[in-house]
Amino acid sequence: AEVPSIGLPMLPRGQPRADGPATIMGIGTAVPPTEFLQSEYPDFFFNITNTSEKEALKGKFRRICEKSGIRKRHLYLTEEILKANPGICTYMEPSLNVRHDIVVVQVPKLAAEAAVRAIKEWGGKKSEITHIVFATTSGVNMPGADHALAKLLGLKPNVKRVMLYQTGCFGGATVLRVAKDLAENNKGARVLAVCSEVTAVTYRAPNENHLDGLVGSALFGDGAGVFVVGADPKPEEKPLFEVHWAGETILPESDGAIDGHLTEAGLIFHLMKDVPGLISKNIEKFLTEARKCAGSPDWNNMFWAVHPGGPAILDQVEAKLKLTTDKMQGSRDVLSEYGNMSSSSVLFVLDQIRNRSLKMGAATTGEGHDFGFFIGFGPGLTLETLVLRSMPIAN
Ligand code: CAA
Repeated sequence: AEVPSIGLPMLPRGQPRADGPATIMGIGTAVPPTEFLQSEYPDFFFNITNTSEKEALKGKFRRICEKSGIRKRHLYLTEEILKANPGICTYMEPSLNVRHDIVVVQVPKLAAEAAVRAIKEWGGKKSEITHIVFATTSGVNMPGADHALAKLLGLKPNVKRVMLYQTGCFGGATVLRVAKDLAENNKGARVLAVCSEVTAVTYRAPNENHLDGLVGSALFGDGAGVFVVGADPKPEEKPLFEVHWAGETILPESDGAIDGHLTEAGLIFHLMKDVPGLISKNIEKFLTEARKCAGSPDWNNMFWAVHPGGPAILDQVEAKLKLTTDKMQGSRDVLSEYGNMSSSSVLFVLDQIRNRSLKMGAATTGEGHDFGFFIGFGPGLTLETLVLRSMPIAN
């Protein structure tokens, strides 16, 4: 039906929209220099938290570490820093001030390192960056980490910023969804989609009454990932992926499955044991809807960039959708080398996938497939997905 006129003349839009879909034009990642081998971590962790006498708990922690699929993780918190800040090494002592002093500085700093790499790959000038979309679950501040990042990079003062605090792990997909909408609705926009996580906010001593906390202590690591996103690429810009669909949903009967509360003792995480089951049970319906935009290819004819929340999640999704074992390789490689870096992880996975594609001699940036998924999940339980189209690789 025709929209009734309200008598105003039609004016050209003040900010014209882009013609084509948003694309990812550069990817950068960064981690702190100090790495911890997972095989040595149980001894280090129980020593530094003065809990070595809790042998049964340490045994359980060791079993979780062995099954974590992680070889090493990078953490800002070195032995020296932990010794200098004993509050972080307790279970529940008020320690938010010292944790915040660390993350307020380190989160934008790590993001800036990754952003410099993403901008270098994209090849444009910093003055062409029009927007920042930044997610972190590591602390809160005013002005935010987005403001600090703009200053560290020396971006224009009129760069338009969106700061997303406390999203948890699905934030990696959220920044790309928001960047897509900004790029497609503002002709010429070049958006930094940024995630940066530093675990100083969640680090704590093990405790018998918080066994899911042990899982977090075994899995979480630090890292930052940045995409440069823009539509209508110029000849000198080389898109790596196009963004074709974005959606988000809250999974049924999943209240409380993952949650986090910022307290005087830092951020306290809770993870129910059936997180992998809830995700694998509900993912097919959502992804069936999502893949329609790509002509509903078979699951195994797509590439998979999945947040590596833990090996059980990857295993159960793989089994449920009967994926061949190579499909989750990017997620497993990132889990192995960096652990679960919350929102940043899935950006690392896409970086891994396009690097793997090159090494394999694949025809596209998506391991030879035309389309693939970019999947984040986290508190809610929230499942957030984008469908990406890969680009041909000239061999
Ligand atoms: N809470 C408490 N204990 C748990 C647990 C949980 N959520 N999950 C596993 N465990 C315990 C088991 O009880 C078991 O203890 P015992 O050895 O004493 O029996 C021990 O961990 C090892 O478990 P399993 O033998 O069953 O081994 P597994 O093959 O399942 O591996 C695991 C353990 C690595 C933790 C695996 O279960 C896993 O990957 N789980 C998913 C982890 C998860 O929920 N990740 C999401 C993190 S949150 C996130 O990414 C988003 C965000 O917003 C931060």
